[in-house]
Amino acid sequence: MKPHLHTGLVVFGLAGALLGCSSDDEAEPEQTTLQLLGYSCQEDAARTSSAADQPAPTWRDTGRNVGVAVNADGLLDPAYAQTVAAEFNQLTPENEMKWEAIEPEPGVFDFTRADAIVSFARDNGMTVRGHTLVWHSQLAPWVEALTGADAVREAMTRHIQTVVAHFRDNFPGVVVAWDVVNEALNVQQGPMGGTVIYRDSVFHRELGDGFIAEAFRIARETDPSVLLFYNDFGVEGTLGAKQVGTYDMVSALVADGVPIDGMGFQMHTGPLDQGPNADDFAANVARYAALGLQVEVTEMDVTLCAVGGNALGYELQRYRYNRLVSACFASPSCRSVSLWGLGDANSWLNDTGCTQGMLTLDTLPAPLAFDDTFGRKAAWWGVYDALTGCTYP
Ligand code: XIL
Repeated sequence: MKPHLHTGLVVFGLAGALLGCSSDDEAEPEQTTLQLLGYSCQEDAARTSSAADQPAPTWRDTGRNVGVAVNADGLLDPAYAQTVAAEFNQLTPENEMKWEAIEPEPGVFDFTRADAIVSFARDNGMTVRGHTLVWHSQLAPWVEALTGADAVREAMTRHIQTVVAHFRDNFPGVVVAWDVVNEALNVQQGPMGGTVIYRDSVFHRELGDGFIAEAFRIARETDPSVLLFYNDFGVEGTLGAKQVGTYDMVSALVADGVPIDGMGFQMHTGPLDQGPNADDFAANVARYAALGLQVEVTEMDVTLCAVGGNALGYELQRYRYNRLVSACFASPSCRSVSLWGLGDANSWLNDTGCTQGMLTLDTLPAPLAFDDTFGRKAAWWGVYDALTGCTYP
């Protein structure tokens, strides 16, 4: 495991480079930050190929499974749609498959917007991650108001069966994975540290811990060919209370023969090598893989709030994307990596901006790999290099 100092040195080196802190005078040819760091993943020809006669490479060209969260509205914008189709081979509906959107009233299903996304995927030769069947948030109010195990079980069963069967029958082979249960665990801070508990929800209140296993079994019965995932945030490393608790919970599901195929790590993170650091994430991927599960990075973004949207921040972001995407794909069990939004202007993090307590910082999260008008950021190259097997040191 590399010492944390490593990142500090890189930051220091980058800062020096970007601020022009060179001991020589201005006659010195300008070095790219990559050269200053002593590595080069791609020849310059590839980096400038958009200006040459061959087409610029895209993420999709690498053959890796690389996905993005999209909105039905976004896909109506030709520039957005073209970038999505060129760079990605997998989509996740950002909101359109959530319970409040798809079954707003009991037994009344509206697939219009979800179908628009899945049709786009099918027509462009892409797959879809279904997101999400059972979650405490963005739940239809009528579900939250249910009382009694029978009522909740009936609603959950009908919802999973109807939604999974809809895509199984109408778009065969396109929705390849479901986040069956999302964010079921919580961390409660006690005097001795964090304790993992099941998060309060109508499902947990009425059905107990077993609601998770029940949901997976219903999904598997409905479509035996789709991959079934548990998905959560803050569980990317190995050591924290929620990380240990989640691993134990998922291990128990596997041991009990519950039909779970994979673990989804949301990966909402920042530009520094922490929360998790890349080595710890790799160790976590390995222990889930050892359970026989596939793993995915499902909702990645790298907010710049801690460092600001300046040149240093963008280079750190590139580095961070590269290290984490590399860490996932280093495991044969890593099925895909998805980013939570296309361009920075599309990010859900803009809803809160960069706030610290009462203070709102004069910078934006800018957490994605494409800018507001879908131009490639430095972070794009960080991911591209990872997808082509080049990990930054
Ligand atoms: C977010 C969407 O991006 C927002 O548009 C919406 O307002 C709230 O939900 N974890 C998840 C995602 O599993 O579904 C969330 O998506 C982000 C956190």
